[in-house]
Amino acid sequence: MQADQPQEIASEGKDLFAKFDDVIALREGLLAQGREDPFNLVMEKVLSPTRAICNGRDTILLGTYNYMGMTFDPDVVEAGKQALADFGSGTTGSRVLNGTYQGHKEVEQALMDFYDMDHAMVFSTGYQANLGIISTIAGKGDYVVLDIDSHASIWDGCAMGQAEVVPFKHNDVEAMEKRLRRIPEGAGKLVILEGVYSMLGDVAPLKEMVAVAKKYGAMVLVDEAHSMGFIGENGRGVVETAGVIDDVDFIIGTFSKSVGTVGGFCVSNHPKFEIMRLVCRPYVFTASLPPSVVATAETSIRKLMHGSNKRAHLWENSRNLHKGLKDLGFTLGTDEPQSAIIAVIMPDLEKGAAMWEALIKGGLYVNLARPPATPANMTLLRCSLCADHSESEVDEILAIFEKAGKEVGII
Ligand SMILES: Cc1ncc(COP(=O)(O)O)c(C=O)c1O
Repeated sequence: MQADQPQEIASEGKDLFAKFDDVIALREGLLAQGREDPFNLVMEKVLSPTRAICNGRDTILLGTYNYMGMTFDPDVVEAGKQALADFGSGTTGSRVLNGTYQGHKEVEQALMDFYDMDHAMVFSTGYQANLGIISTIAGKGDYVVLDIDSHASIWDGCAMGQAEVVPFKHNDVEAMEKRLRRIPEGAGKLVILEGVYSMLGDVAPLKEMVAVAKKYGAMVLVDEAHSMGFIGENGRGVVETAGVIDDVDFIIGTFSKSVGTVGGFCVSNHPKFEIMRLVCRPYVFTASLPPSVVATAETSIRKLMHGSNKRAHLWENSRNLHKGLKDLGFTLGTDEPQSAIIAVIMPDLEKGAAMWEALIKGGLYVNLARPPATPANMTLLRCSLCADHSESEVDEILAIFEKAGKEVGII
């Protein structure tokens, strides 16, 4: 048959979008009730780390990861502007070709200073840092032992590397040990943990877990995405408060939370770590971060080293919000405040969406989280605090929660 002749019998092809029909129906069901779309919010203007105009309303932001309020820090903004003027808008290339500028080396030095570690490697996102490091170090025949509630980027890194994946019950040290005990003698083992788990805002028992991992000769990677900058005397994360920073092999982090921009990284003391720059595909086969981004990240990281006052105020905010919500009668993800994330558990998705809408109409933005991103099929309203929330803003947040909770019939 010639190429320009129409095919006579068009076969009934399978619509590859059919697998999304359940999600489409769920979404349409929610929107059919006339609800504002919780997954399509537009910030029309951002006024500060804690306030924005959303849907025409002045809104308190309680669902960003801007934990340390660095996005509008004058030194950070100035560093970005200067780098944009001096180096242009982008590198147009991979780190291993034309994409390593002075700024990339400087932000890596800032990370080595921040963590007091020998090596730092910057990726274009935290997602890519997990994807790259995990898939490169744990390959076919190796074993990855990981918490069942691990972030999607960790699971995707495991899938890409094709190691045997052995999940264990969330934060359960005994379950983790049981899995490690069963791994064949001599196999390569990597234990992956997170400092703070972002859905419930709970902290991992890293002291016990790292000790168990070491007992079985496993390497340890800790993702500190939600604790860097805030938790620990120097903001190094849960590894710092647990006293295990020298026992872990890799710390993964992101610039998209406390640092206040975008990017990801891995720091390590492993003597062969630098080889990663040549063998890690998500580092090699993508363009490097723009000069303005690495300049803002470097300035922010260096300022976070001296952020103890902000850290103290953020803890105060976390304690006040946790106590206030508990006193109002909401069910929370943790008994005590453990991080800057406080998760309010909703009875179901419908009530969760109604509550989310009542909050946004009242001038408060939080994250609505639902399965499969959440543990145990929970619907959550995730509140993430900022060091720049004032005491009176936390009071305002509680008043909005009280009004919405009564309106929707949750309290
Ligand atoms: C635990 C964890 N790791 C990694 C990431 C990815 O970070 P990024 O936004 O830089 O891709 C996230 C982002 O939400 C996260 O929560």
